[in-house]
Amino acid sequence: VNEQICVDDLNASFSGDVYGEAPSNDSAWFREHVARNDVDLARSRRWTVDGALSGIALLAFRGDRAWLGGFGVVPEFRGRGLARRYLAETLAIARDSGAASVELEVLAHNAAAIALYEGGGFTHIGDLVVWTRAPLAVDVESGEHVGEGGELHSYDVAAVTAIARTPATCWQREPRSVAAASPLERIVVGDGEGGARGAYAFMRYAHDRVSLDAGARDSASAAALLVRLDARVPDRKLMLINEPPYGPLHDALVAHPGWSEMTRQRRMRIALR
Ligand SMILES: CC(C)(COP(=O)(O)OP(=O)(O)OC[C@H]1O[C@@H](n2cnc3c(N)ncnc32)[C@H](O)[C@@H]1OP(=O)(O)O)[C@@H](O)C(=O)NCCC(=O)NCCS
Repeated sequence: VNEQICVDDLNASFSGDVYGEAPSNDSAWFREHVARNDVDLARSRRWTVDGALSGIALLAFRGDRAWLGGFGVVPEFRGRGLARRYLAETLAIARDSGAASVELEVLAHNAAAIALYEGGGFTHIGDLVVWTRAPLAVDVESGEHVGEGGELHSYDVAAVTAIARTPATCWQREPRSVAAASPLERIVVGDGEGGARGAYAFMRYAHDRVSLDAGARDSASAAALLVRLDARVPDRKLMLINEPPYGPLHDALVAHPGWSEMTRQRRMRIALR
């Protein structure tokens, strides 16, 4: 019986010092995570010990690549070698599914998980920064959006691929994930004008914040993009997850007021053949 994994299983497996005593991901978030990132619940795992949930692994597939999009052991079962066993089973599922590699991102301060993955054969392939910008201005009278605003459209994979950076910085920022987050607002800067080669952002409005996918080919365009974002959405929190700690966009984020590094992730990968 393949008991389908649900958000409560993920929260139970994530609880503890890294993600908080009681992580509060909700079922809407979980459904989006699965749909946007091609998580395959039929090839993901939910383990039990004497009928009690002991751990989960979420596996996603794209072509011949796999991604570990969630992995954890329930706190009372930690420290007895279960994660090592569950990780090996997860890699076996990926291999049996024809995957040539498995990739993942792990918080840079999650020493236990990093040691686990290194022990399982994963290697460090890069670092990623999670950037955030607090709201600059809110119209307190009306509580209304005070930015210029823009139009929301549904962008398909081809439309995202046409302007997105290559390679994407990580699984969750590949065109399939970005397009699946539609409707989106798009900003394009210096598109061939004045020698600038351009920068872009896809903006997803969610609750009180805007999540971005963005890229820049030169520093002038990167700086101009951040100015445009401030004008467009001064009243909401901005989030740019998983940006490499180098390149024109990184340098512009360091230099532009308001942006700060929230946390860092480590990218890891294992070749299966
Ligand atoms: C990381 C996690 C999965 C480890 O589970 P576990 O069942 O306790 O791990 P195991 O007992 O199988 O240990 C396997 C290896 O993990 C590493 N590890 C586990 N706990 C550790 C700790 N507290 N400190 C350092 N390394 C640790 C070690 O390398 C260990 O191998 P060793 O025993 O040969 O030293 C578990 O702590 C967890 O679920 N954490 C919360 C969710 C999470 O962070 N998931 C990863 C998201 S990317």
